[in-house]
Amino acid sequence: MQRWKWNRKKPPIFPFLVLILLLFIAFSTLHSEHAIQRIHEIPDHVHNHQEVSSATFVKPNFSGHRKQAPEVLDRFSRCNSTVEYSGKKIAWRGDSRQSGRRRVRSESCDVFSGKWVFDNVSHPLYNESDCPYMSDQLACHKHGRSDLSYQYWRWQPHNCNLKSWNVKEMWEKVRDKRLMFVGDSLNRGQWISMVCLLQSVIPADQRSMSPNAHLTIFRAEEYNATVEFLWAPLLVESNSDDPVNHRLDERIIRPDTVLRHASLWENADILIFNTYLWWRQGPVKLLWTAEENGACEELDGRGAMELAMGAWAEWVSSKVDPLKKRVFFVTMSPTHLWSREWKPESEGNCYGEKDPIDIEGYWGSGSDLPTMSTVEKILSNLSSKVSVINITQLSEYRKDGHPSIFRKFWEPLQPERLSNPSSYSDCIHWCLPGVPDVWNELLFHFL
Ligand SMILES: *[C@@H]1O[C@H](CO)[C@@H](O)[C@H](O)[C@H]1NC(C)=O
Ligand SMILES: *[C@@H]1O[C@H](CO)[C@@H](O)[C@H](O)[C@H]1NC(C)=O
Ligand SMILES: *[C@@H]1O[C@H](CO)[C@@H](O)[C@H](O)[C@H]1NC(C)=O
Ligand SMILES: *[C@@H]1O[C@H](CO)[C@@H](O)[C@H](O)[C@H]1NC(C)=O
Ligand SMILES: *[C@@H]1O[C@H](CO)[C@@H](O)[C@H](O)[C@H]1NC(C)=O
Ligand SMILES: *[C@@H]1O[C@H](CO)[C@@H](O)[C@H](O)[C@H]1NC(C)=O
Ligand SMILES: *[C@@H]1O[C@H](CO)[C@@H](O)[C@H](O)[C@H]1NC(C)=O
Repeated sequence: MQRWKWNRKKPPIFPFLVLILLLFIAFSTLHSEHAIQRIHEIPDHVHNHQEVSSATFVKPNFSGHRKQAPEVLDRFSRCNSTVEYSGKKIAWRGDSRQSGRRRVRSESCDVFSGKWVFDNVSHPLYNESDCPYMSDQLACHKHGRSDLSYQYWRWQPHNCNLKSWNVKEMWEKVRDKRLMFVGDSLNRGQWISMVCLLQSVIPADQRSMSPNAHLTIFRAEEYNATVEFLWAPLLVESNSDDPVNHRLDERIIRPDTVLRHASLWENADILIFNTYLWWRQGPVKLLWTAEENGACEELDGRGAMELAMGAWAEWVSSKVDPLKKRVFFVTMSPTHLWSREWKPESEGNCYGEKDPIDIEGYWGSGSDLPTMSTVEKILSNLSSKVSVINITQLSEYRKDGHPSIFRKFWEPLQPERLSNPSSYSDCIHWCLPGVPDVWNELLFHFL
């Protein structure tokens, strides 16, 4: 797979998934299941943790125009050479004030610990066909899924109740504001869910959607409010920042700058960030801003994610006034690529799954625990400025919630594929209505 290039008439909305599928297709025909697993769970190289005493710290610079602006990364960018990671780290000051956490409510009750309850009275919160902004990648019923119970589950925390969703109240919370989701296609799914949840009470002539681009904007005149999605799958500047034309085979990032995206997100009032799966595809090339000869360093995905989150954290800690701006971080969205994890000895994936997993505390191999603890460490130093929406455990239970084969596919599928549905199932994204609606109910609970 050389350059990743889209030449279809309709630009696909979820290129990441298509890559996964192509890798799936390529590898499952060439190699055994073992090879596929390598693609999904590339063991990160042993993280070259240089001790702090010898590490160089690089300070991100958010002051706008750089003197000799380094070349902007795009899908044509190349490294002139690649060397081992030098051990440079991002300097960011955390939040010394450990009191005044935003996660007030979670102190008395952890809403992320609970269970799924079948409730076809309260859920779904909207009908798939009533949402004009629904994506063909997520509209599972429309694409042939006939078991609809995935729409009927409500999240019930163990020790309290979630605030019940109220569309008018949500609109009042965003009146005169910009609500912006920033991240990858999972975050885009949550944004589509939010738009579907909110749009029903706005007359068709008083709402609009800007074309699908780096920044996509849903606007409601009556509330003078927008619900936006910014494509920034790695948070920092990268060669994957074009939502349609980007590369996945050689990811290059500028680990020390979020400026390209931050210039678009900085004026939003409520920000919801995520990043995870794009760091799970093997080593990442680092092109530091001060590097003048195009020499890259190479680092495993987890280490690169830590650098990128450091640059993001420095932006949050230096730019966010918690009285004026709310910032949320959504934790990693689990995948269900290996049914043997919940059904020992079985061969499939999420295809054909109709019910949630009911093993309390179930955790699949797709949700990397070392990554989670890195993320937790960073977020705990920002706790007065960032609220965590910890969706990982609750979504782990929902092996039934993925589109599997019931979505639009961009590549024509060969008959051999079609006769083996799990070979092309999407077990990464989530059907709507479904699991991401609950992520938004959690957001509503904390707003
Ligand atoms: C940040 O960039 C600006 C513009 O290039 C420059 O004037 C300033 O000195 C830089 N600040 C730091 C801390 O590097
Ligand atoms: C985060 O907080 C811990 C303890 O509160 C501290 O030891 C650590 O240096 C902080 N890290 C950063 C990057 O601020
Ligand atoms: C809800 O589920 C129950 C039990 O499965 C069923 O009897 C009932 O008809 C369902 N109601 C709706 C509105 O789907
Ligand atoms: C979905 O559609 C059904 C049948 O048209 C209707 O009874 C139900 O109230 C709708 N639900 C929502 C949340 O709009
Ligand atoms: C609309 O919202 C913006 C902030 O997003 C605010 O500056 C502006 O005054 C609002 N307009 C009206 C007419 O209230
Ligand atoms: C790579 O090297 C060439 C020739 O030395 C130079 O023109 C180019 O700018 C370099 N690339 C980068 C990204 O610096
Ligand atoms: C999210 O919850 C899990 C337990 O379900 C926990 O292990 C993890 O540390 C939490 N993550 C964050 C960022 O708080």
